[in-house]
Amino acid sequence: MYRTHNCGELRMEHVGQEITLSGWVQGSRDLGYMMYTDLRDRYGITQLIFTEGKTDKNLFEKARTLGREFVVKIQGTVIERQSKNPNIPTGNIEIQVTELDILNASKTPPFTIEDDTDGGEDLRMKYRYLDLRRKPLQESIMFRSKVAVETRSYLSQQGFIEVETPVLIKSTPEGARDFVVPSRMNKGQFYALPQSPQTFKQILMVSGFDKYFQLVKCFRDEDLRADRQPEFTQIDCEMSFVTQEDILNTFEGLTRYLFKACKGIDLPTLPRMTYDEAMEKYGSDKPDIRFGMEFHNLNDLAKGKGFSVFDNAELVVGINAEGQANHYSNKDIKKLTEWMQRPQIGAKGLVYVKWNEDDSIKSSVGKFYSDDDLKEWLHAFGAKKGDMLLILSGEDEKTRKQMNELRLEMGTRMGLRQPDDFKPLWVVDFPLLEWDEESERFHAMHHPFTSPKKEDVDRMLNGDHETMKSLRADAYDLVINGVEIGGGSIRIHNKELQSKNFELLGFTKEEAQAQFGFLLGAFDYGAPPHGGLAFGFDRLCAVMMTGHGAIRDFIAFPKNNQGRDMMIDAPSPIHNEQLDELCLKIHLDEEK
Ligand code: AMO
Repeated sequence: MYRTHNCGELRMEHVGQEITLSGWVQGSRDLGYMMYTDLRDRYGITQLIFTEGKTDKNLFEKARTLGREFVVKIQGTVIERQSKNPNIPTGNIEIQVTELDILNASKTPPFTIEDDTDGGEDLRMKYRYLDLRRKPLQESIMFRSKVAVETRSYLSQQGFIEVETPVLIKSTPEGARDFVVPSRMNKGQFYALPQSPQTFKQILMVSGFDKYFQLVKCFRDEDLRADRQPEFTQIDCEMSFVTQEDILNTFEGLTRYLFKACKGIDLPTLPRMTYDEAMEKYGSDKPDIRFGMEFHNLNDLAKGKGFSVFDNAELVVGINAEGQANHYSNKDIKKLTEWMQRPQIGAKGLVYVKWNEDDSIKSSVGKFYSDDDLKEWLHAFGAKKGDMLLILSGEDEKTRKQMNELRLEMGTRMGLRQPDDFKPLWVVDFPLLEWDEESERFHAMHHPFTSPKKEDVDRMLNGDHETMKSLRADAYDLVINGVEIGGGSIRIHNKELQSKNFELLGFTKEEAQAQFGFLLGAFDYGAPPHGGLAFGFDRLCAVMMTGHGAIRDFIAFPKNNQGRDMMIDAPSPIHNEQLDELCLKIHLDEEK
């Protein structure tokens, strides 16, 4: 028998018992006449003690050979500790060891297996199996497992059926690049890996499954960031005979259930905000509403006073950093301005107005505006003494984006973005289409099957080019703490509308047929009204546990920022024979 208990289990009530434990050696402290060794498994750490006089001499010598990460089995007696450790659950007891089996030796690990490790990112990725022994990662992966189990439990109770859809498919309409797989049996032809099961779940609705879900791997070849991986998991869902309202309510139910079951938190009813309002107040379609600091448009107050930068700007917009006037010296403002001017943000400059505690007003544009002018601005924000306005100007969309970055940065600096504070919301009424200046084309803001709002259908079928820019969709996102957790839409199930949408998106009939013919064909046989959404499962787990969207630690074997798996060293070249068999020739070879 390898163990009677695990390493996180023994307490005072076990004192006097003979037990057997197995696990990894976390480390030892050898004091000469006695030695302490920490034994670890996924349940916790238990202290072992070897004492001169009490422990057999040979056994003591053997214990001294133990290195970090050796795998051992021990037998011994549970005793009360002399000096207790209140920081761990097993801290009141230790094991007087009577037998020691070394089950496996270990090389010295390249970094310490502790909560705060000394290993760099790449090293830890290469030795992911060791990194995964660390408690924070074990907790993330176990939390993920819990969220998955609870998701399945909730959705199946609501009558959803889990259906697996294929991984070797044809391109899907999510708008990133596809990963492709060459077909040996169909030379020169390729499968695409699904960016999502979008088309399949719609077909399942045509087949009458009514309520579908799947915890499913999706693949997108796009630039990576902390909240993006090339392969990630969705909680993918679709429902028939539903309105947007039904979908929002169902998945608000799932969100609230998961927070309760996995975190013990009762979420309030989720507020809803239109896309337009989110852009106006926060400059983002995924606003972090843990704090206010909403945008105020200063066009009316700031223009026409001879300050050409503002006069020539499409938008003058500001935020009020409450109570910050005192905390920002000229040097601090300069640093903040430089931070805003980095290429990642690209602001031209930053204007401040401080309302000091002594009632004086100080501003970088004091030359152009009187104190009375500036007071008017401060009043427009509802500011008080001690507050500081931060103002940007320029082209509307760009300036809002920059202000969004500044607002988030100020929120962080001011401690307003606490990880254990959860503020989810629905962002609704997204535009249907997005005009791309460069390609002079419309893109689907969500995807090409998304339905316009009922009241916009007429304008879509009969309106001019400009009208198309103002069409709203039955499309929605779930946002938590500034992270886009999920998104979905009601789908078009009407042929005329779908053709019009394809036309607007620049697909010819033939192109639409070639890419989505199978779906359009299915729609000829009685497609029910339907809609759905997908949650980013990795992001959901990350936000629930850490308050932010960095997902790498919630995926057992993630890729690095270059899309590489450092542990298995993939991607990697393949043999020429394999290339020949697939009728592939590598471009690089040809150039040589
Ligand atoms: P969408 O493209 O918005 O919608 O994706 C849904 C959610 O998936 C997550 N997500 C990602 N997570 C990690 N890494 C990535 N690279 C990544 N890309 C997306 C996000 C996002 O909100 N088929 C539609 C859903 C629908 O209409 O029903 C879809 O995939 O959290």
